Amino acid sequence: MPAGGLSVSAPPGMEFEAKITPIVVTSCVMAATGGLMFGYDIGVSGGVSSMEDFLREFFPTVLRNKHDKEGSNYCKFNDQGLQLFTSSLYLAGLTSTFFASYTTRQLGRRVTMLIAGAFFIIGVIFNAAAHNLGMLIIGRILLGCGVGFANQAVPLFLSEIAPPRIRGGLNALFQLNITVGILFANIVNFGTSKIHPWGWRLSLSLAGLPALLLTASALFMVDTPNSLIERGMPELGKAVLKKIRGTDNVDPEFNEIVEASRVARNVKHPFRSLLQRRNRPLLAITVLLQMFQQMTGINAIMFYAPVLFTTLGFKADAALYSAVITGAVNALSTLVSVYTVDRVGRRMLLLDAGVQMFLSLVAMAVVMRIKVTDNSDNLDRDWAIMVVVIICNFVSSFAWSWGPLGWLIPSETFPLETRSAGQSISVCANLLFTFVFAQAFLSMLCHLKYFIFLFSAVSVVVMSLFVLLFLPETKNVPIEEMADTVWKRHWFWKRFMNDEGNSHRVGEANNIYSAAI
Ligand code: BGC
Repeated sequence: MPAGGLSVSAPPGMEFEAKITPIVVTSCVMAATGGLMFGYDIGVSGGVSSMEDFLREFFPTVLRNKHDKEGSNYCKFNDQGLQLFTSSLYLAGLTSTFFASYTTRQLGRRVTMLIAGAFFIIGVIFNAAAHNLGMLIIGRILLGCGVGFANQAVPLFLSEIAPPRIRGGLNALFQLNITVGILFANIVNFGTSKIHPWGWRLSLSLAGLPALLLTASALFMVDTPNSLIERGMPELGKAVLKKIRGTDNVDPEFNEIVEASRVARNVKHPFRSLLQRRNRPLLAITVLLQMFQQMTGINAIMFYAPVLFTTLGFKADAALYSAVITGAVNALSTLVSVYTVDRVGRRMLLLDAGVQMFLSLVAMAVVMRIKVTDNSDNLDRDWAIMVVVIICNFVSSFAWSWGPLGWLIPSETFPLETRSAGQSISVCANLLFTFVFAQAFLSMLCHLKYFIFLFSAVSVVVMSLFVLLFLPETKNVPIEEMADTVWKRHWFWKRFMNDEGNSHRVGEANNIYSAAI
């Protein structure tokens, strides 16, 4: 709390009384379905794109290229339409984030999740019933809107409803669920690829499962106390707080939320506030971390693993099978992060992973240089195993570092009054760079060939240097003390953190408090 602060809430560092109640456990399940949905959509498109029945129906040219012995291996899947099938979801998602920021604030987290669920369900229907490319893309766009709304509301819902002491764990759990969703999609694709000619429809339809779960849970959930209080329902907010904390002794936490929501409500233009000088470092870190996360090249693997394995000369079955292996490594390695992130710190994980990712990417480029000639279309067993090992090594290092931290660090740096707008920027930047990468990858593979992995290797060096010089450690720092403890002490960012802005905030809060009593 700032100096000369308010007596209305608990002293800094004070633990509020909170039990892990059934309603909190249910909320975790909700987060699971939100993350699962995002992950399933990430994972499903690559497998489906490598299925011949699907290509025959929507992308006959790609199918012809695939069987064409003459054409370059690197260019078999280079088709703008096919890339649009994957990337349209992200374009829609990033646009809808701004609407989601509005609904999250004005209508609440629960309603925003319901809107997401509705988008998901209609999107799945379009995709599963698609008879032409238009229906397919419309379906993906609707799913993208679902992703935009869900990724805005679910993490916010979670961090507001979670008892403070398990908030960090729950945040990484969201990423864990993304990876489980990707793995689930990979396994489904492996099974449905054997069902002709409609296996791909089943793959796309099964996205309905997490969508229905998210919608049903949102129907039965209460909104968060923070949202209820912010929207002028303090009595209900207090009742909900008592219920979720499993105790009547909630006054210190209730007062803190009341105070925070009043400050937040007084900020009329949260997006404009983001541009204020003292928020610029946070904005820069958020956008850059999300950009760097995508520049690792992770989604070349997550979206296109089966396509990539086919390009490398794997048979169809082996390609899907290998995608299941990388998906499993992804999910398991995320657990490492859940366990270590609050112990060894964010910077250490990112820097270690930088070295591991760099070596894997260079190794991958070397293997492709040696083995994937333009027209060879077979990789012998030993080389194939080597490729899978290198890719798993790369995926695992991403999964315990940039995967969760790309989301966690932005979510823990913004002050309350700009946290929701900051979360929108984080989701939006993630989806924007995901879109750019998804749209460009197959063309880059065609033109850059194995250099594509060297491009990512160079990016990893740049982002690791950035971490070394510009990313402060945020481990174990209470969220509301971030400005004083971290940013004002950082050799570079401290110049943005003059006291003017902060004292303005204290003054503002004090005025509101005086008005309240
Ligand atoms: C990224 C996604 C990526 C996934 C892989 C997430 O953190 O935002 O783009 O596909 O991790 O597990």
